[in-house]
Amino acid sequence: MALDAVKGVDAKHKPTGIAEFDRVLGGGFVDGSLTLLAGNPGIGKSTLVLQVAAAVGKRGDVLYVSGEESKEQLKLRYDRLKLEAPSVRVLSETDAGTAAATIADVKPSLAIIDSIQTLRMDSAADVGGVTAIRGATAMLLETAKRSGVPVLLIGHVTKEGVVAGPKTLEHLVDTVLYLEGDESQTLRLLRCVKHRFGVTDEVGVFAMTETGLEAVANPSNIFLLDADRAIPGTAVTSILEGTRPFLLDVQALVAPTVFGYPRRLASGMEASRLELLLAVLTRRAGLQLGTHDVHVNIVGGLKVREPAADLAVAVAIASALANKPLPRKALFLGEVGLAGEVRPVSRMAERLAEAGKIGFTDAYIPRQSGKMKKTALSLHEVTTLNDALQVLR
Ligand code: TYD
Ligand code: MG
Repeated sequence: MALDAVKGVDAKHKPTGIAEFDRVLGGGFVDGSLTLLAGNPGIGKSTLVLQVAAAVGKRGDVLYVSGEESKEQLKLRYDRLKLEAPSVRVLSETDAGTAAATIADVKPSLAIIDSIQTLRMDSAADVGGVTAIRGATAMLLETAKRSGVPVLLIGHVTKEGVVAGPKTLEHLVDTVLYLEGDESQTLRLLRCVKHRFGVTDEVGVFAMTETGLEAVANPSNIFLLDADRAIPGTAVTSILEGTRPFLLDVQALVAPTVFGYPRRLASGMEASRLELLLAVLTRRAGLQLGTHDVHVNIVGGLKVREPAADLAVAVAIASALANKPLPRKALFLGEVGLAGEVRPVSRMAERLAEAGKIGFTDAYIPRQSGKMKKTALSLHEVTTLNDALQVLR
């Protein structure tokens, strides 16, 4: 049939009422959709979905199928979160068929499965194994489509995640969300990596508190250390999470190597990227790093995935080596190339605007080809890493 002639449908997002969650979903759950919420054990998945359940429960019935925890354990969490949600019902069940049949029968506004790894399939002997979780997911997909009930699956990212973890389910479901964060810290990011009903570039920011996950109101500067003290080895950069710019501190520590090969340790960034930047600093800027251990840490447990932070990492290392602080209210942005050149980064205007908002005064950025939008910051355009290192002279 001609694609043009196919009758279109509108994917209607129904808000859950938790703004930060709805933002990531592009407005809320779509009827008949299957969503996977994945994350490390203990990161806060059950907490988040119980809060979502209670919020949806204000307007309709919610069915919470728990194969992992008893009703009593769920109630403990419910009390701790001080929720009031009489229309949230729980079902302790580990049989996939029974769970699916109950969803089809009750037709709630939202069904939750906590977790997909605990569901049994008669046809598959390996509970929590690939065959079982794929089979159970396919069954729930069928149930969601047929009944029109949005189904939310929780999936643990296991250490051997590639085998039986959420990765094997990503192609089956409509939407994939990841709840991430450093367990020793309170910050949690909700990231969307696949979404059949919207864009995947929104990120939700939460803090784990005594009473559950709370939206973080001003997330752009939560990764900054003490804003007034300039410390050698610390540089500020801006990274994009989805479409939001976040300012964060890069910390470097450089110390003479005492024994054997120099150590290079990176936390929050790729070790290979750090090696590359060290090689460029040595060869193109003449820094004596071959006899020094270098540690780099991205503050706040965030993972830096884009090269825009290169310049900040490089100047932080140089600052640590020289034991001279960088200007505290300055932002460093730019990808560093093998020849020591500083390359452009995307969405410069947004990143600068965010920095301006929270009182930054200067920005070291790659040379701009076009005209720049007006900004409150004094811009220092640099062509090479050496240009940028002048800030330490
Ligand atoms: P949980 O939602 O059970 O994690 P998951 O389902 O991803 O395995 O929550 C894990 C941790 O969160 C738990 O160790 C305690 C903490 N927590 C809080 O700090 N505050 C709270 O209000 C709740 C309910 C949990
Ligand atoms: Mg849980």
